[in-house]
Amino acid sequence: MSNVVVVGTQWGDEGKGKVVDLLTERSDLVIRFQGGKNAGHTLVVGDKKVILHLIPSGILHKDKLCVIGSGLVIDPETLLEEIAALREKGYAVTTDTVAISDRAHVIMPYHKMIDHAREATQKIGTTGRGIGPAYEDKAHRTGIRMIDLVNPDLLRKKIDALFDEKQEYLTCILKVKAPDKEEMIEKFQAMGEKLRPFVTDTSVLVHRFISQGKNLLFEGAQGANLDMDHGTYPYVTSSNTIAGQACVGAGVGPTMIDSVLGICKAYTTRVGGGPFPTELGDEVGEKLRAFGGEYGATTGRPRRCGWLDLVGLRNSIRLSGISHLAITKLDVLSGFETIKVATAYRSGGSLIESMPADLEMYPGMEMVYDELPGWEENISSVRSFDELPAGCKAYISYIEENLGVKAAIVSVGPKREETIIREDLFG
Ligand code: GDP
Ligand code: IMO
Ligand code: MG
Repeated sequence: MSNVVVVGTQWGDEGKGKVVDLLTERSDLVIRFQGGKNAGHTLVVGDKKVILHLIPSGILHKDKLCVIGSGLVIDPETLLEEIAALREKGYAVTTDTVAISDRAHVIMPYHKMIDHAREATQKIGTTGRGIGPAYEDKAHRTGIRMIDLVNPDLLRKKIDALFDEKQEYLTCILKVKAPDKEEMIEKFQAMGEKLRPFVTDTSVLVHRFISQGKNLLFEGAQGANLDMDHGTYPYVTSSNTIAGQACVGAGVGPTMIDSVLGICKAYTTRVGGGPFPTELGDEVGEKLRAFGGEYGATTGRPRRCGWLDLVGLRNSIRLSGISHLAITKLDVLSGFETIKVATAYRSGGSLIESMPADLEMYPGMEMVYDELPGWEENISSVRSFDELPAGCKAYISYIEENLGVKAAIVSVGPKREETIIREDLFG
């Protein structure tokens, strides 16, 4: 038995979906543990491309259980659409393959309205999916949970109790039209009816697998720099994205985790506002965006691009206790004469080696770069470390040595098979 947590080490979109899909082969159960449909996880298998927002990235494999944990905020409409789209593509979505936590929270129409309206002044650059307001209600203890959604009377009672306050906030403070209460209740009752068979106490379910000695894979969303506590606050998402959240959002204890795999893009990207120390506003950044196809899987927004940032990665490794790395999108760097890597920041003459909490410091910081030789060759067909070009091997070794963590997986293309596996985490 081996239980592996997969987390993003940067600002999201590192290739978590691809790696989770790949590792599902070796595991029995995959559980998403936080976030919502702000996530967009891309899987490319054969000639099929699937983008998942809520269902765990193990769903393309037969006979594996995919669990949506209590740590998520679920938009039931998106979830039903995702189930329908998967079924249309021929994948089995049944109560044998998908389970949803009865304690996960529900994103309501007013959450999305609040998210949109606040963006006009707050300008975080959110995905507009109602994530922040839904987590706020969870902490405020006025959230709707999946257990409420699937019980029509309880749902009505809960919405009745909170609606006046929401209506007042929307109309008087944010100056937007509130949703029609009755229409909303009926629509959500109908969606609850459809989702009811999938809803269960998933912590109990996960523990049953643990007691049977099965392999578990925990799938995170976003990345460490978007973590609500440890990221570039307030330019973060509204959940914890680091590995510790795997336990909370799945309902297991820390003693159940064997290893933590940090997914690390070979360069850095960020979508939305907020500091990004190694961002390149020049033609090199544009080249990374063009070569890497760096457009958001959820919103289609162009991703901001820059060089690899070892300061940020050291932070992620410390915060998540990362035991192994998966370096992704290495193929995108083919054709760069040299590749830069930030080893530290400099501000007012002093060297900064960990990410500052004070956001005021970021605009004035200079990057301390190492410059490494690049490589010309296309590497997408390479399947072993030894066959990689010398410059590429040196780049991987440089990252490993500087971070003190082994790259167990190297990804050289979007497809499942475009991968070099150097260590079996379930071995
Ligand atoms: P996630 O949110 O971490 O799952 O990542 P996304 O799916 O949002 O973004 C990663 C993008 O890179 C997707 O379009 C993937 O298909 C693609 N991708 C993943 N790994 C690789 C790789 O090694 N090389 C290339 N070229 N693309 C990759
Ligand atoms: P995956 O799982 C990249 C970013 C948004 C915004 C900030 C807050 O695909 O890696 P939110 O809607 O969560 O309140 O937005 O977080 N963001 C992501 N960026 N990948 C994601 O998920 C993201 N999920 C949220 O762009 O800057
Ligand atoms: Mg993504």
